[in-house]
Amino acid sequence: MSALAMDASSPRALLHLLFNGARAVDVLETALALGLLDVLEPGPVTLGALAAQHKLVPGRLYKFLDCLESLGLVKREQDSDALESARYRAVPGLRAAAESVLGLHSLERDREQYAWQELRGRLPEVLRGAHSMSTASFDWPPRTASQVEGFESSMAAGLGPILETFRTHAESLFSAGARLLDVGGGDGTLAGHLLRDHAGLSVDVYNLPATEPLVARTRQRFEHPAARMGFVGGDFLREALPTGYSALSFVRVLHDWPAEVARSLMKAAYDALPSGGRILICEEFRTPERLAAQFFWSYFLMGVDSCVSRLREVDFYLRTLEDVGFHAPHVKPGPFELVVAHKP
Ligand SMILES: C[S@@+](CC[C@H](N)C(=O)[O-])C[C@H]1O[C@@H](n2cnc3c(N)ncnc32)[C@H](O)[C@@H]1O
Repeated sequence: MSALAMDASSPRALLHLLFNGARAVDVLETALALGLLDVLEPGPVTLGALAAQHKLVPGRLYKFLDCLESLGLVKREQDSDALESARYRAVPGLRAAAESVLGLHSLERDREQYAWQELRGRLPEVLRGAHSMSTASFDWPPRTASQVEGFESSMAAGLGPILETFRTHAESLFSAGARLLDVGGGDGTLAGHLLRDHAGLSVDVYNLPATEPLVARTRQRFEHPAARMGFVGGDFLREALPTGYSALSFVRVLHDWPAEVARSLMKAAYDALPSGGRILICEEFRTPERLAAQFFWSYFLMGVDSCVSRLREVDFYLRTLEDVGFHAPHVKPGPFELVVAHKP
């Protein structure tokens, strides 16, 4: 279990915490807003110092910190019953995690706009196949203009950690003159950022034709010329991938499909690339933390059969890339690991 997961030391403890979820979020939002996490994370800090610094009532702050401790998010050392001398330290990464999960522009807040309430309380029927998400609310792939726009902007909102990985490995990813096709490239936000970071790069976004206006808008927003940032409309389930690129990327695309489709897309990439061309896969790999982050979609997509949503271990991608002919598949570390391989 990751250090940031709830301290579910027993099923009962986990269930108590879950039942108190709204209150737990209130506590964490408050800790974030008051700046307590900034002090607690480097820690250790005594309760007395924390209370004095933030003008808080020590006895109340103690109970507040008990809430955080029960979540497994702070550790306490206390030698006596004197509250003020108790020392606290937050688990590493808590400040950034709270900002990312609870902050104003968090993915979880964005997800609230989806019609998950259509499933709430009706899971028995959902599981029996008698009730589904209405296609007016959500369809996969998204169909109406507003679905396409809403979904792609949700995706773009979650690109932060992916961009961080691309930036960490910038030197080794794109040489001057590289031409990238970003397959299933959303509204082009990733392309826009990559172009900003790499002067010698050009990127075409490959996506369903309905996304073209979104990509055009993104290109304008980034002020990239059409010669550097293009759009290729197509459906990868029905046609071969276009050729003429030195690299093809699949970012959060392959997990949407059953293994045989994911494999056929990797094979299609192999066929489209020239010798020496590279495939880049940045995925929702199956790790405890990623599965937790995916909780919303695991729940929501129970009502959407056309989207399989399969988080797979990174080994699946490494093995399949080798099977379809790629050489030296390897993982570049980062908040969203990047799998890279080349065509011999
Ligand atoms: C989960 S989103 C990921 C978007 C983007 N790569 C990102 O990470 O932000 C999957 C993308 O695949 C695209 N897609 C779905 N089915 C497709 C198809 N049959 N052909 C081409 N693109 C498709 C969707 O339109 C969407 O942009």
